[in-house]
Amino acid sequence: MPRKLVIGNWKMNGTIASNARLLREIKDDSTITELKIGAAAVCVPFLHVPETQRILTGSALRWGVQDISAFREGAYTGEISADMAAEFGTTYAIVGHSERRLYHGEALTTVGVKALRAIQASITPVVCVGETLREREDGAARETVETQLLAVLDSLPADQMHSLVLAYEPVWAIGTGRSASPQQAQEMHEFIRRLLRTRSESLADTTILYGGSVKPAAAADLFAQNDIDGALVGGASLEAGQFLDIVRMAA
Ligand code: G3P
Repeated sequence: MPRKLVIGNWKMNGTIASNARLLREIKDDSTITELKIGAAAVCVPFLHVPETQRILTGSALRWGVQDISAFREGAYTGEISADMAAEFGTTYAIVGHSERRLYHGEALTTVGVKALRAIQASITPVVCVGETLREREDGAARETVETQLLAVLDSLPADQMHSLVLAYEPVWAIGTGRSASPQQAQEMHEFIRRLLRTRSESLADTTILYGGSVKPAAAADLFAQNDIDGALVGGASLEAGQFLDIVRMAA
């Protein structure tokens, strides 16, 4: 059974001081000190990345960012490039999160280019895909996820497709306290893995995380599913005990 990966997505939360306390509480716990390197990470607000690097360097806990620019460098006011994030030891970059697709109108191809930029900067993109409640109720969940996934794969050279992590995050489960059932999640993960396999048999080994109201009580059943390789955790990652419980169940 391949090792699981648990990533916390802190979104726009905390202060430098409160997030430093949270980082120390997590990294000093035996769950992390005894963890295989790279099995857990936290994606923090951009302005907190330097302090995160200072606190986590030398620990088993990796860190990442929650977005990056689709451009490499230049006159793009307010943007942060993958190369800039890489200067701070960043391991992961979440791209295509539903909150960015929704609030920032990120196009399908934009997400694909962002994934490419991350890979070019030696950062692993965590590409989010997932349907809205309306799309699920209309029976269009698979169509939505397939469209989102293929737009990313079509943006990547074949030899770089293996460098990404996927996160299936049904929009209706994000922040609602209502996770997809293990069966619902497994069904979509299995579908995603079949899509990957149609591109290349070796892509079938891609790490596919589940995200959407992952809490300790549900984590074990999710991780027991064949095609769920870990979790992308929002709210529960802001509380050290809950996040560590989820990491322990994945380890
Ligand atoms: O990226 C993970 C996030 O969208 C899930 O949030 O609070 O439902 O765990 P939450």
